Amino acid sequence: MIKTLKVLSLLSFCAVFSLASQAQNDKQRADIEARIKPVGQACVVGDNSCGVATVASAGGARSGEDVYNAACMACHSTGAAGAPKLGDVAAWSPRLAKGMDVLHDHGVNGIPGTGMIAKGGCMSCSDEEVVAAVDYMVDGSK
Ligand code: HEC
Repeated sequence: MIKTLKVLSLLSFCAVFSLASQAQNDKQRADIEARIKPVGQACVVGDNSCGVATVASAGGARSGEDVYNAACMACHSTGAAGAPKLGDVAAWSPRLAKGMDVLHDHGVNGIPGTGMIAKGGCMSCSDEEVVAAVDYMVDGSK
């Protein structure tokens, strides 16, 4: 009888101990996961929930401002190759007189013989995104 009790208490001691160590392991694992999370966290393109604005978007068009910053700014903020600068009302007003359809078309298809190449060279940009970027530039240049 005494022997059985001893075995039982030994068993329960083991059980408690292993539970405790299990709990410890779970806590350690949680701690480790928390520490490595920022590194291991996959940030899928188009998923802005991870706090990083991804350049290309899998779903949903980018805003005109985003496209401008990514694909148009290089020329249109500096005036490189004679590009009309964002905010330069004098440079844009004669262009605005052509009408938005023409400006949209020139954004998407470029102007042959000038530095304005089709889509400003942004081949990953959809037509709609380029049109939005044209609108963004025009709105900021009136
Ligand atoms: C490599 C330089 C360069 C980049 C990049 C560029 N542009 Fe241009 N863009 C120009 C130049 C140069 C002109 C002026 C062309 C001319 O009329 O001689 C121009 C003119 C324009 C015009 C006026 C067209 C007209 O009919 O007067 C629009 C609209 C335009 N760009 C939109 C865009 C958009 C939108 C982007 C980005 C998606 C972009 N551009 C990127 C160089 C660039």
